[in-house]
Amino acid sequence: MAIERTLSILKPDAVKNNITGKINSYIESSGLKIIAQKMMLLTKKQAELFYEIHKDRSFFGELVEFMTSGPVIVQVLVGKNAVSKYRQIMGATDPKQAEKGTIRGDFADDISENRVHGSDSLENARKEIDFFFAEHELV
Ligand code: CMP
Repeated sequence: MAIERTLSILKPDAVKNNITGKINSYIESSGLKIIAQKMMLLTKKQAELFYEIHKDRSFFGELVEFMTSGPVIVQVLVGKNAVSKYRQIMGATDPKQAEKGTIRGDFADDISENRVHGSDSLENARKEIDFFFAEHELV
């Protein structure tokens, strides 16, 4: 099993609802380690760039507005198969499809406010980590 890094975002709804500690406990219980995290308020430009891959989707404007509506916590997680493991514990993108016991299954109701983001591939994880963190911030 490969030791990987992946990017996680605890979205504005997670911060507003005061459940970031609960989400971190799901992450830590899974064996993944949080090696960097910071709270920040994304600018419109940062959110548009981060989600550029979705720029032609109908929900893009709503997504950017939501992701800039309040502070987020960006994190780097490390562990065995971190990319797929984090996607497993997050649950399906649409919380209505997410299993109980997953972060979205237990804490989210709506696809547009689904509490967390996680990289979907190792290649995107590298890009997304570079987007928010300098190498010296990863300890
Ligand atoms: P995330 O993993 O952050 O990646 C893109 C986000 O777009 C996704 O989670 C959802 O929160 C959001 N989104 C909003 N509406 C939709 C939709 N109809 N289909 C997919 N993703 C959506």
